[in-house]
Amino acid sequence: MASVSVFGTGYLGATHAAGMAELGHDVIGVDVDEAKIERLSRGEVPFFEPELPELLRKHVESGRLRFTTDAREAVDAADIHFIGVGTPQKKGDYGADMRFVDAVIDTIAPLLTRPSVIFGKSTVPVGTAARLAARVRELAPVGDQAELAWNPEFLREGFAVEDTLRPDRLVLGVDPERPGRAEEVARDVYAGILARDTPFLVTDLATAELVKVSANAFLATKISFINAIAEVCDATGADVVQLADAIGYDERIGRKFLGAGLGFGGGCLPKDIRAFMARAGELGVDQALTFLREVDAVNMRRRDHVVQLAAQSVGGSLLGARIAVLGAAFKPNSDDVRDSPALDVAGRLHLGGADVRVYDPQGMANAAALWPTLTYAESIDSAVKDADLVIVATEWNEFRTADPGALGALVSKRRVIDGRNCLPVDAWRDAGWEYTGMGRHAG
Ligand code: UDX
Repeated sequence: MASVSVFGTGYLGATHAAGMAELGHDVIGVDVDEAKIERLSRGEVPFFEPELPELLRKHVESGRLRFTTDAREAVDAADIHFIGVGTPQKKGDYGADMRFVDAVIDTIAPLLTRPSVIFGKSTVPVGTAARLAARVRELAPVGDQAELAWNPEFLREGFAVEDTLRPDRLVLGVDPERPGRAEEVARDVYAGILARDTPFLVTDLATAELVKVSANAFLATKISFINAIAEVCDATGADVVQLADAIGYDERIGRKFLGAGLGFGGGCLPKDIRAFMARAGELGVDQALTFLREVDAVNMRRRDHVVQLAAQSVGGSLLGARIAVLGAAFKPNSDDVRDSPALDVAGRLHLGGADVRVYDPQGMANAAALWPTLTYAESIDSAVKDADLVIVATEWNEFRTADPGALGALVSKRRVIDGRNCLPVDAWRDAGWEYTGMGRHAG
């Protein structure tokens, strides 16, 4: 069993740290945010992620997992370091903000006095790993014996523990000119996962970086493809859900990520496709990714579309209309509201003069921090009370399974826009609701 450190304790880093402890390693998680480290040290997860609280508590209690703000303590304790800090979109620019990754490297490299391997997990512009590897060699007292490899992470929020412990594949990028010990160390660290015949692909650094952004670009493209088709369905009276079922049976296409609706959001897909385009521009191959602009545009149009539908539904003007928005998180089983289509729609309706009430099973605190001027309700019932329109913007189970009859008794008008095509249409229509889905029999 190895001693490892994980720098960054957000959705990715905290889950990776707990996952490494579950695989049997001694783990030290590091973050500059003292409040976060304090909570994690008490065995508390500072965000909503199913299964993670149990896993974290188990290993904090066993002593196999601890947290610190002191990078030196982590470097003293371990010779294997994972970097899982964020790479958000730069302000006013499509590119990725690399300052957190750079800061970790500049902090730990000068402390490396023993042979060490750093595994980058953050999503970064292609070319970053080669640059950082050279910087590590330059700054580390141990010189060439401080190695850096890239090991992208594919975890989905809401399934982060599952994806960490049972990933579809592991990808490791190493410098073919200096392969070093990274592969051997990775095989050792991930032995528990590899024992289940999980595919393990060893590539060069650039390929590993590109695998991650390409995967996200593909997923975003798939969602925008079906949303573009939803626009055509709306214009023709066709049904995009049946269409997706039908094309999804073709194994070459597959049904997953063909959910038409409000489109994608969150901390990854939107900023990753933008950073990918920005990097392609720098590399002189911007034309190769021009289509991602359209993917982004189709995605943003979904939000406009729902706002327009809402205005139509309440008689043309949003002014004074009481609208319940069910959902604030960018997807169910998450409290993450970063670039959330649900919250974006709620905010736009509010700015348009509607009296908006938002309810989300987990995302309310984060939503209130981002949009303090919106009104937040404590339950579905209080959100929909006297509403002229209900919009389902995130497909939480609680909304899917809500009783349309009971909700119908609370609202002022039985009008629902199903922004995620997640409601049982017949049950809602039978209960007297005027139902509008996304790309399905508009009328
Ligand atoms: C994504 C990738 O899936 C993951 O592999 C990567 O590591 C990080 O980015 P995540 O952001 O957690 O993960 O969410 P994901 O489940 O991919 O959903 C992204 C967005 O797409 C959500 O807003 C979701 O509502 C939307 N979506 C997804 C659709 O609109 N339709 C679909 O059919 C699927």
